[in-house]
Amino acid sequence: MSLNNLAIEYRAELPTAQEFERLFRSSGWTEALEVTADRLAATLPHAWYAVCARRGGQVVGTGLVLSDGVLHALIVNVIVMPEMRGNGIGTEIMKRLVARCQEVGMLQVQLFSARGKRSFYERLGFVARPDDGPGMELGGPR
Ligand SMILES: CC(C)(COP(=O)(O)OP(=O)(O)OC[C@H]1O[C@@H](n2cnc3c(N)ncnc32)[C@H](O)[C@@H]1OP(=O)(O)O)[C@@H](O)C(=O)NCCC(=O)NCCS
Repeated sequence: MSLNNLAIEYRAELPTAQEFERLFRSSGWTEALEVTADRLAATLPHAWYAVCARRGGQVVGTGLVLSDGVLHALIVNVIVMPEMRGNGIGTEIMKRLVARCQEVGMLQVQLFSARGKRSFYERLGFVARPDDGPGMELGGPR
């Protein structure tokens, strides 16, 4: 899809609950289908930072950071609407999330790569943790 006729606008803002639900359910994360709208909406106030990409006012992508503001930041819910992917929107959202973390001197900026997205994050400078110091989780989606 060509974006020439309508530019993408990036803002440091949360999506609305409805926008977030639409993006989240388009993500392809099948386990996401089980989270109710109310519970999805309840996550938003916990974001430390967020970016929305809009085209003609309509949200086409988002990304959020959960953080203690000093030591740890976890980038979550980086999602671009399926029909808009492959145009650099996800990359621009990521750059803005990372820039904000760097601005405050955050010690660690981490994320969990979805399957098949490793190269996307590597291009942005992220490296997988070593085998003797891996990221770990208690169950959760694969
Ligand atoms: C991951 C995701 C956010 C990437 O968003 P995106 O807007 O497609 O990202 P970009 O366009 O910046 O980059 C995607 C690809 O398009 C290519 N690309 C970037 N700009 C481009 C352009 N102007 N023209 C053509 N291709 C381009 C990139 O090389 C990249 O290639 P890759 O698939 O090998 O990584 C999107 O695929 C998505 O929403 N997926 C579902 C949710 C998800 O899994 N999120 C990640 C959670 S960890």
